[in-house]
Amino acid sequence: MKELTVAVAGCSLVDSLYANVNTSSRAFQSLRSKKNGDGGLREGELTFADALEKFSHKNYGEILSSLTNGEKPTARNLGGPAIVGAINAAQALYSYPVHFSFYGATGKDEKGEFIRSIIRKTPVDIRNYVTLPGATPGTDVLSDPAGNNGKGERTFINALGVCSDYTPKHLPESFFKADVVWIGATALVPGLHMKLSSLLKKAKKNGAVTIVNTVYDFINERKNPDKAWPMGDGTEAYKYIDLLLMDWEEARRLSGKEFFGEIMGFFVNSGVGAFAITRGAHAFFVWSSGRLFMPRNVTELPVSAKVDEILAAHPEKRGDTTGCGDNFAGGFASSLLRQLSEGKEPGTLDIYDAGAWAAASGGFAIFTVGGTYLEKKKGEKQAYLKDLRDAYMLQINRI
Ligand SMILES: Nc1ncnc2c1ncn2[C@@H]1O[C@H](COP(=O)(O)OP(=O)(O)OP(=O)(O)O)[C@@H](O)[C@H]1O
Ligand SMILES: [Mg+2]
Repeated sequence: MKELTVAVAGCSLVDSLYANVNTSSRAFQSLRSKKNGDGGLREGELTFADALEKFSHKNYGEILSSLTNGEKPTARNLGGPAIVGAINAAQALYSYPVHFSFYGATGKDEKGEFIRSIIRKTPVDIRNYVTLPGATPGTDVLSDPAGNNGKGERTFINALGVCSDYTPKHLPESFFKADVVWIGATALVPGLHMKLSSLLKKAKKNGAVTIVNTVYDFINERKNPDKAWPMGDGTEAYKYIDLLLMDWEEARRLSGKEFFGEIMGFFVNSGVGAFAITRGAHAFFVWSSGRLFMPRNVTELPVSAKVDEILAAHPEKRGDTTGCGDNFAGGFASSLLRQLSEGKEPGTLDIYDAGAWAAASGGFAIFTVGGTYLEKKKGEKQAYLKDLRDAYMLQINRI
């Protein structure tokens, strides 16, 4: 087995759930948006905390306290597609000499401690996770069980916190010297997103394999709802990406296209080496140019049937679908890394194996609340995912 170093940068934050927020309350209604783009709250949508501060002329601490009656969150989880994906990949590769290091920032506060305490229970190295002045990034999820005519409604407030100050100057040379450079969900780390192509270019120049996974780009969606989202700073970044992982909505908005054929055509011709596009409980799509994985036309692959079987037999195992996509990305990346560690040459990697680890990991995420499973003992998740992966290979007739 070859040793590999994986440097991961991008979005890592705390998801805080407030399970009983009354959206009809005076506090909520006074913060409600009056017209598009004014920074006020909208039921079922995401607002940025700084926009809400400008809208209400109050600081975010005060705002949150008024919305939640000063109560503590019902539950807190580690979130963010970069860290959640990296943790899954690291757990899946527990027995391989693949070393993961996360590059990012928290504030010097209790939330930052919380994030570190979680990651310390995983194989991901946080020596490059720095502390900056300011608040740890987070998403507050305000859930009103009586909202939306009794169907329940969730409203999100994202505080970028120190993620708005994290820029390429915080990335040391070690980041670019890794064998694999993985940049995740930088649409929520604007300083990195605006320099995405130069970061990837530098990594490629050093001979790294590059992976990018995406997140809904609220900033560009607000700015230009009628235009395709840029891949960071434009479209140049695509040619420096060896593996690109997205969900359907992100693929649609990044391509700026509406129809299946056009969306696939956009990414096939974008310059990336391979991609996968997920669609929740529906089948996902993979494609490879032949750069790392063997060449493959756009291919539809099902989600894991075994996960459905397990949930049908054990309804008590159901957690939620938070982080399915992040874990899917981690599973896909883990297969790429494992095959490289096994000494496979570029152009010979098996994309079905990657799809199988991805579907296993995305499915496994449903068994937990939040996106990160903390192992009771090392190797536990690798073994579980391997069983799901093997069942998946049978499901798609690859064994
Ligand atoms: N209900 C489900 N049953 C089985 N597998 C699922 C289900 N939902 C999601 N998955 C797995 O997870 C993958 C990713 O899901 P999805 O497309 O919802 O990602 P996402 O939109 O990026 O989610 P998030 O950003 O919340 O993590 C799917 O391709 C599938 O393999
Ligand atoms: Mg996602």
